[in-house]
Amino acid sequence: MKNNPVQTAEPPVLDWPLMDNNITRGDLDAIITFLSKDPAPILTQSTQVQAFEEDWSRWLGVRYSVFVNSGSSANLVTMCALRALRGPGKIIVPTLTWVSDIASVLQAGFEPVFVDIDPRTLGMNTKQVISLLDDGVKAVFLTHILGYNALDDALLKELDRRGIPLIEDVCESHGATHRDRKLGSLGFASNFSFYYAHHMSTIEGGVVCTNDEEFYETIRMFRAHGMVREMKSPERKKAAAAQHPDLNPDFIFAYPAYNVRSTEINAVLGRAQLPRLDENNRKRRRNLEIFLQHLDSKRYRTDFAMEGQCNYAFTLVLNQPDEGLRDRLQNVLRASRVEFRRGASGGGNQIRQPYLRQRFPALRPEDYPQVDHVHFFGFYLGNYPALEPARIQQLCALLNRV
Ligand SMILES: Cc1ncc(COP(=O)(O)O)c(C=O)c1O
Repeated sequence: MKNNPVQTAEPPVLDWPLMDNNITRGDLDAIITFLSKDPAPILTQSTQVQAFEEDWSRWLGVRYSVFVNSGSSANLVTMCALRALRGPGKIIVPTLTWVSDIASVLQAGFEPVFVDIDPRTLGMNTKQVISLLDDGVKAVFLTHILGYNALDDALLKELDRRGIPLIEDVCESHGATHRDRKLGSLGFASNFSFYYAHHMSTIEGGVVCTNDEEFYETIRMFRAHGMVREMKSPERKKAAAAQHPDLNPDFIFAYPAYNVRSTEINAVLGRAQLPRLDENNRKRRRNLEIFLQHLDSKRYRTDFAMEGQCNYAFTLVLNQPDEGLRDRLQNVLRASRVEFRRGASGGGNQIRQPYLRQRFPALRPEDYPQVDHVHFFGFYLGNYPALEPARIQQLCALLNRV
């Protein structure tokens, strides 16, 4: 580019991490108080995990939650439980998501069917999803990307009409809503992550949520070795014991499952964080509004679907496939010490990733042009509650000068 002032002037150093101060001194003190109890507390999954699950269910507005050791584990046991209860078939998945959303589909023995994204929500193109629904589809596994609501009424209505379960991955969108209902409470089941960079953190952690009792009990078993005694219901446990008189009721393994339990310490952290989540989310929503209002709409997309958004990372997507602008942008961000990820959620177009290229060589990434644009020309930057509006404007000024 000719006459570009940024190439001569030094950009300011902003020191902008992807996440800041997500685990506070107060959270750490809550752990210390817990550990200081006399007699010494149990640390493996016990009453704190159960209490956190109840707190989380109340916050989300669902009947059941199962705390696990990561969002990826939540994805895994969700797909495995679905496979165990509904049999084999197709799962409709996005091309923009985290690897574990698709890996879990493959690991559970389902066939993934990919759809492109809607550029305004970064979630699946819901018209494409509806056009792919048939009797072989066992679920739609939708990801709400970076706080944007990917649902619409037409999709919900069609899934309901056909009796196809909706599984929501809300790992990046805690507190976002569809028509004032929290995402993760609208489908058959939902998954959240509490990894450090997310809206709240249990260090590592995740949760599976549902209103379906049978699914809940199955998830409880998949969390812990497939053991029947992990179920809550005494009647279900008794029935399983009666079916297997040759087995010790303490050791009936219904499924070849996993151990993806978390610990009491992680649950204490979750319980300390949850009361702050709504207030933090209010600030994150405001931050994204300021960010998009001040961004140059000639260079960057600013027309994201804002209704119900609850974002923890600013989305920065170039309007045009402009490689020069992209490269200058990356250089300026590095020089200003602004941490960023290219490709938006987890590695961009998943069809370009080796784990899928090897398995599905006939799939062509270019057939999914919207996600491919985000793959090459989309970024995210940190959005955390402590950001001052003036600092966000300073960031926008930097981006607009590139
Ligand atoms: C959409 C989505 N799903 C699942 C996960 C996996 O969560 P975890 O890192 O806790 O395994 C992530 C991770 O960031 C994610 O962004």
